[in-house]
Amino acid sequence: MLLKDKIAVITGGAGGIGLSATKIFTKNGASVIILDFDEKAGVKVEQELTREGFTVKFIKTDISDEKAVKKAFEIIANEFGRIDVLYNNASVFLGGGRDNKMSDLSSEIWDRVLHINLYGTYHCTKYAIPLLRLSGGGSIINTSSSAGQIGIPECDAYTATKGAVTALTRSLAVEYGPENIRTNCIAPAAILTEMVKESNLNDPRFDEKAFLEKGTPLRRWGLPEDIANVAMFLASDLASYLNGTIIVADGGITVA
Ligand SMILES: NC(=O)c1ccc[n+]([C@@H]2O[C@H](COP(=O)([O-])OP(=O)(O)OC[C@H]3O[C@@H](n4cnc5c(N)ncnc54)[C@H](O)[C@@H]3O)[C@@H](O)[C@H]2O)c1
Repeated sequence: MLLKDKIAVITGGAGGIGLSATKIFTKNGASVIILDFDEKAGVKVEQELTREGFTVKFIKTDISDEKAVKKAFEIIANEFGRIDVLYNNASVFLGGGRDNKMSDLSSEIWDRVLHINLYGTYHCTKYAIPLLRLSGGGSIINTSSSAGQIGIPECDAYTATKGAVTALTRSLAVEYGPENIRTNCIAPAAILTEMVKESNLNDPRFDEKAFLEKGTPLRRWGLPEDIANVAMFLASDLASYLNGTIIVADGGITVA
């Protein structure tokens, strides 16, 4: 029960890594508010976990829409009064040549990716901070990627957002540390979710065998819980002196 009595907001908490975090956070005692734009998945998770006796609230929210995020945090303030954790997890990777190298990247795709991945982080953090203050502090967990650590071709919009989130983690840590709000970041790679299908597995040029046997020291895909457990640690008081840290959780891919 590492998160007993904590109230956590998880963006993208209805799918992939976020869904795993929703389950792990609730099992460890947290009340979880999911902000996700996938209504079907969000309602399903809320119903299933509520039936199991956990406190989960789904609020359909597109994090790229500032008004919607503001409204969601007003609902949270009314119903929960405060929060202890913001897990900025939701992002998109637009595959199939849509996200690309800059010379082949349309401004529509650039805008869309930035609006979800980067503006989404801005919107949620902006409206979460007053509620974290009401708890006397808390934990913000941002999400970068291997694309924020090393050069990865043909996804420059995604990369720009993940580099920005890494940099913002450090400034938020310095700005809000004095208020006992710790900000850290997880940089995953190769976690088996819908996003990895979009970024790798659906690409006919991608050689899964070579990737696992030559590029991946642990010789396996990561699982959503491999990342959700790191998030749980960062959300918990065990990480009480971590602030401004980028945890690269990628099985060693970026050092290989
Ligand atoms: N899977 C990987 O290998 C990998 C690698 C590096 C980084 N990441 C990062 O980890 C995080 C989670 O990735 P994932 O693999 O679980 O992705 P995913 O696509 O499986 O799940 C993303 C979730 O976010 C939600 N979402 C997307 N856009 C949204 C929006 N505008 N508003 C609200 N909700 C939205 C989706 O509905 C979904 O539930 C992302 O930030 C991603 O960039 C993942």
